[in-house]
Amino acid sequence: MYPSEAKTALLEASVFRHACKLFDTQKRISDDDMRFLLEIARLSPTSFGMQGVRLIVITDPALKAALKPACWNQNQIDSSSHLIILTTRTADLEPYSDWVKARFGDRGLAKAQEEAYNDKYNAFHQERHTPVYEWGARQCYIILGNLMSASAMIGIDSCAIEGFEKNKVEKILALDTQREEVAVLCALGYRTGAQPQKQRLALEMIAEFRA
Ligand SMILES: Cc1cc2nc3c(=O)[nH]c(=O)nc-3n(C[C@H](O)[C@H](O)[C@H](O)COP(=O)(O)O)c2cc1C
Repeated sequence: MYPSEAKTALLEASVFRHACKLFDTQKRISDDDMRFLLEIARLSPTSFGMQGVRLIVITDPALKAALKPACWNQNQIDSSSHLIILTTRTADLEPYSDWVKARFGDRGLAKAQEEAYNDKYNAFHQERHTPVYEWGARQCYIILGNLMSASAMIGIDSCAIEGFEKNKVEKILALDTQREEVAVLCALGYRTGAQPQKQRLALEMIAEFRA
């Protein structure tokens, strides 16, 4: 694709994407499209390449129905074709954990370099004081953004969902919250009605050039 065509496609997808409030329950995303979207998620970047994100993909109507009350009774939950729960590992992201060492190990570096990476990762976390859950959740949001953009590129509607009771959702999913916590949800499917007018600030309000 030429850059000009890519720009048009991305712009059109950005206009097409909106927070879809109700999906068509008769339309299911194909397995092929779901695999494509999950591959986009897998290829998304994570800080230090730590890949602590997990995606729980839910199609089971009973599970969606159980989750709905814990998600502010939002209709996206049970009308969606696929509901993705983005979670982050927690204990595994602590400096010098087996997981962290293994991820740096994946790089195939010399031992001294691998140790230097582990020390750098530790120093980074010491300096920021960001709880590992918060830091891991940030990585989930990068994937969330990519998922929504990629979905829009292939005509699939989405809604990011922060409106949920975290503890309840984790309990329903029977997560071991010592190791894994829910960051954000992404409902996917096909819209039922027309999308509302976009409300956005003028570009000058959000961006400035310093030449
Ligand atoms: C991280 C995040 C969480 C959100 N949570 C919800 C939600 O729980 N329920 C909902 O209806 N919309 C939710 N939204 C959608 C926003 O309200 C919506 O994106 C915003 O109003 C802009 O509208 P647009 O996406 O249609 O352009 C969320 C959006 C983001 C980015």
